[in-house]
Amino acid sequence: MTSQKQNVQTDGSIPATRDKNSVKFRGGLKFISSLLLPFALGIFTVGVTFQQQSAVKQQPAGPRKTSGAAATLAQVEILNIFRQLDAHGNIRAIRFLYEAKQRTDTPENRSLDLSTAELSDIDFREASIDKRILNDLLLTDVFLSNATFIGIKMAHVNFALAQLNTANFSSAGFNNTSFASTPLSNTIFADATFKNVNFSSKNIRGVNFTRSTLVHVDFSFSMLYNVDFSSASLTNVNFSHAQLINAKFPSATLKGADFSNAQLTNLNFTSTNLILSDFFHANVSNTNFRQSSCVASKFNYASLSYCNFWYSNLKYAVFHEAYLNQANFSRANLYKSDFTSTNIMESELKDALSTEDAVISNGTIVHDENLINEGQTDYSISHINGWTLSNGNVTPVISNKSGSNCQVTLQSLYWSYCVPTCQFIR
Ligand SMILES: *[C@@H]1O[C@H](CO)[C@@H](O)[C@H](O)[C@H]1NC(C)=O
Ligand SMILES: *[C@@H]1O[C@H](CO)[C@@H](O)[C@H](O)[C@H]1NC(C)=O
Ligand SMILES: *[C@@H]1O[C@H](CO)[C@@H](O)[C@H](O)[C@H]1NC(C)=O
Ligand SMILES: *[C@@H]1O[C@H](CO)[C@@H](O)[C@H](O)[C@H]1NC(C)=O
Ligand SMILES: *[C@@H]1O[C@H](CO)[C@@H](O)[C@H](O)[C@H]1NC(C)=O
Ligand SMILES: *[C@@H]1O[C@H](CO)[C@@H](O)[C@H](O)[C@H]1NC(C)=O
Ligand SMILES: *[C@@H]1O[C@H](CO)[C@@H](O)[C@H](O)[C@H]1NC(C)=O
Ligand SMILES: *[C@@H]1O[C@H](CO)[C@@H](O)[C@H](O)[C@H]1NC(C)=O
Ligand SMILES: *[C@@H]1O[C@H](CO)[C@@H](O)[C@H](O)[C@H]1NC(C)=O
Ligand SMILES: *[C@@H]1O[C@H](CO)[C@@H](O)[C@H](O)[C@H]1NC(C)=O
Ligand SMILES: *[C@@H]1O[C@H](CO)[C@@H](O)[C@H](O)[C@H]1NC(C)=O
Ligand SMILES: *[C@@H]1O[C@H](CO)[C@@H](O)[C@H](O)[C@H]1NC(C)=O
Repeated sequence: MTSQKQNVQTDGSIPATRDKNSVKFRGGLKFISSLLLPFALGIFTVGVTFQQQSAVKQQPAGPRKTSGAAATLAQVEILNIFRQLDAHGNIRAIRFLYEAKQRTDTPENRSLDLSTAELSDIDFREASIDKRILNDLLLTDVFLSNATFIGIKMAHVNFALAQLNTANFSSAGFNNTSFASTPLSNTIFADATFKNVNFSSKNIRGVNFTRSTLVHVDFSFSMLYNVDFSSASLTNVNFSHAQLINAKFPSATLKGADFSNAQLTNLNFTSTNLILSDFFHANVSNTNFRQSSCVASKFNYASLSYCNFWYSNLKYAVFHEAYLNQANFSRANLYKSDFTSTNIMESELKDALSTEDAVISNGTIVHDENLINEGQTDYSISHINGWTLSNGNVTPVISNKSGSNCQVTLQSLYWSYCVPTCQFIR
């Protein structure tokens, strides 16, 4: 790391105290090395490829194994080259090595190994094919600062144990990529797309996933501070055993998220769609679920302290044995929700918009009052305080349970509230 810092300094801003001859000499060296670079890399690559091929030929039956010495030599040589060049030279070197690998190696083993390199200010668009594709890259344990990956599609890239500082991955695409044990700080993944990605890391700070799309992403056992998932779409994302502090999810859509055993503090789930999420045994505190949709989500054995479910849609949500300390269910839709064996009193649910067919702590099923009096013709006014029809439709339907009673359902984008004495259509 020390040598890297020195190099960055000599390549970038040379201290004014150095004499001019030294500057000229270094400039000359840099020029010569940039001329010789492709040549040197060419010989080096041919050499390594030859050694690899002969190593493979010598052991046709056994597992494919490159000569350890050649690989080590290659790695040392690559790291040496990186140390001697500035950012532009490094970009050219990476591109050269990458293309050579893509051309000469078998499809199963095209991975270019840049592990343990220390690289600053690299724009990987310049190092990739067509500025868009970068597959099969081993970046384990690399130190990358101010790296740019904007709009690049990546598959089989391994960032495990890498250190990334202020990297920009806006609109990038990731397939089968690992960020396992990778500390991330100030990393931008806005509008990025992820599939089969592993983010299991103890140190993720200030990372921005705004408007990104994540499918089969693993955050289990990770620690996330100040992470922004606003308007993101998360499908089968695993936060099990993770610790999240100050994470933002406003207007995000999560399908089948696993928050089991997670520690969630100060989260913003305002207007978040949390359908079928699992919060089993999670410790959730000071979290805002206002206007969220948690239809059929499970909160079994969860601890929910100071959580606000104001206007949230909790149809079919299950809270078995949950600990609900100062939770706010005011104006929530608790239709068919299940509070069996919780510490919540029926009176604490009285401000809910609906508790129709909900199961309260002692296992009793409760019902709402009728919203509209029998024979009432103006459906826009309810006789129960707090119910006014501001927008949405009131639909009178003839009940098939009893010919005389009518059913009225109020429907808007997220809600569907019903007149209790009748049958419900959802
Ligand atoms: C691919 O090459 C690397 C070294 O570059 C080697 O360690 C690995 O075993 C090779 N894998 C296969 C499947 O040949
Ligand atoms: C980051 O790297 C880019 C090149 O990719 C460069 O133009 C920019 O000046 C660098 N920013 C900082 C703060 O060093
Ligand atoms: C990251 O890249 C995106 C897309 O080019 C750009 O809009 C954004 O400003 C960049 N962010 C930073 C911090 O450089
Ligand atoms: C992942 O790979 C699949 C199949 O090769 C492809 O259809 C998809 O676009 C890729 N996704 C990303 C994010 O690169
Ligand atoms: C990604 O990896 C999984 C197994 O880890 C594999 O089944 C799948 O085919 C891979 N996808 C691509 C696009 O290579
Ligand atoms: C993600 O990486 C961690 C650490 O290497 C590993 O334990 C975990 O199994 C990986 N997750 C997946 C889904 O492969
Ligand atoms: C994340 O990036 C978006 C723009 O892409 C920005 O509006 C938002 O403020 C950023 N979030 C944080 C926490 O900085
Ligand atoms: C999430 O990850 C945990 C720990 O790795 C695992 O036990 C669990 O089955 C995963 N959840 C899902 C839904 O795959
Ligand atoms: C949650 O996010 C929403 C939308 O960004 C914002 O209006 C609200 O103030 C936030 N709530 C808290 C408690 O930070
Ligand atoms: C839940 O987290 C809070 C801090 O956020 C902590 O004080 C409390 O002990 C935790 N409860 C359990 C049961 O782990
Ligand atoms: C519940 O939250 C709403 C909205 O934040 C607030 O207006 C109301 O006073 C809260 N109710 C209680 C009982 O704290
Ligand atoms: C359950 O609790 C409710 C309200 O607290 C009460 O009216 C009802 O009788 C209880 N049922 C049983 C079976 O204890």
